[in-house]
Amino acid sequence: MRMVDLIEKKRDGGILSDDEIRFIIEGFTQGAIPDYQMSAFAMTVFYRGMTDHETAVLTDAMMRSGDTIDLSRFGTKSVDKHSTGGVGDKTTLILAPIVSCLGGKMAKMSGRGLGHTGGTVDKLESIPGYRTTLSAEEFMQQVEEVGVAVIGQSGNLTPADKKLYALRDVTATIDSLPLITSSIMSKKLAAGSHSIVLDVKIGSGAFMKTLADGKKLAENMVAIGKACGRNVTAVMTNMDIPLGNYIGNALEVIEAVQVLQGRGCEDLQSVCRVLASNMLALCNGWELSYAEQQVDEAVASGAAFAQMKRWIAAQGGDASVLDDTAKLPQASVQYEIKAPRSGYIQHMDTQLVGEASAILGAGRKTKEDSIDFAAGIVLQKKTGDFVEAGQTLAVLHTNKAETLGDSEQVFLRAITFGDIQPEMQPLIYGVVR
Ligand code: URA
Repeated sequence: MRMVDLIEKKRDGGILSDDEIRFIIEGFTQGAIPDYQMSAFAMTVFYRGMTDHETAVLTDAMMRSGDTIDLSRFGTKSVDKHSTGGVGDKTTLILAPIVSCLGGKMAKMSGRGLGHTGGTVDKLESIPGYRTTLSAEEFMQQVEEVGVAVIGQSGNLTPADKKLYALRDVTATIDSLPLITSSIMSKKLAAGSHSIVLDVKIGSGAFMKTLADGKKLAENMVAIGKACGRNVTAVMTNMDIPLGNYIGNALEVIEAVQVLQGRGCEDLQSVCRVLASNMLALCNGWELSYAEQQVDEAVASGAAFAQMKRWIAAQGGDASVLDDTAKLPQASVQYEIKAPRSGYIQHMDTQLVGEASAILGAGRKTKEDSIDFAAGIVLQKKTGDFVEAGQTLAVLHTNKAETLGDSEQVFLRAITFGDIQPEMQPLIYGVVR
């Protein structure tokens, strides 16, 4: 088999056989297929797509490209969640304690932020002492004892995805349905959880800009997970508006604490409630309405917040910062962005809001960039709100005052004002089971 022939076949709209797909992934992982051929292949898939069967085989081949984690000791209790990425998405920090204090076992590997999206590992590293790297034994032992451990991607899990994702990032081939499906599901399947809830984000801050694309991605991922014997649900959620009011690493830890103390922003609370109850319905076999009731009780009783402190302390973090969030990294500069006119906020281009936060130091352009944990944005107004000219829209937090001008410009470009109150879109677009 020659890679050039397979690129040509896909370029001309052909359907690849199972052997051909496995040849490509094995060859690329081992270095026999060079980056330039793989990039060309990714572009042919971007334009030509893949059948459901091709996508399933690609996912399986990528899952098998490296190690897989065995969580069978937790039986059906192991449960994971994956978000397709967004702005202000701190749901893992909230779900992990809720679900683990209600019996779920979360052995979770999370990613770092890149571009306009944030990453859970960066948020956790803003807590002094928190260790995002554990040995395999420490990781398993903590899940046994505490019910939850969240670390960065480690070991040799899905090396094919690691290499391919890096290529896609620089060849404009990220937003391809079969490539996103196989990238996410190969990692989730290799990470071993029996039950998986996928949070498929849809809107201007997400990879999937339209409901039709988001639904197709959700259906593809659920079908592949089920074919591999896992319990999978996908929740399609709104990312046409930032989730919650806080964007940035330490800032998002603060908002997670607020939600676990029962006083968080309503949209964030609602999304977390839906995700947590779907996770518990899968791993505990509960009715959804019962799971929702249990989630509410875990928050109201303080059990979920106590569990967050237990988890953070078990992983080396200073849990006292959760009781006193002023001890988290603080920005030396706080700057208020004022509304340039009166009117309703019609729309927030959420990707631009994420970029404005990254400019302040909360995100990185390349994987090598370092992060300012204190940087970010606290929103005071969101889509649907009325503002008077000169009223504060948001507060920028940074340690680099020279970034304020650029960040403000990008933030204001993200906001569309109008005279009529816009119709609000639903927070949850639907659930694929
Ligand atoms: N997240 C992933 O892990 N992979 C993609 O391709 C897109 C989002």
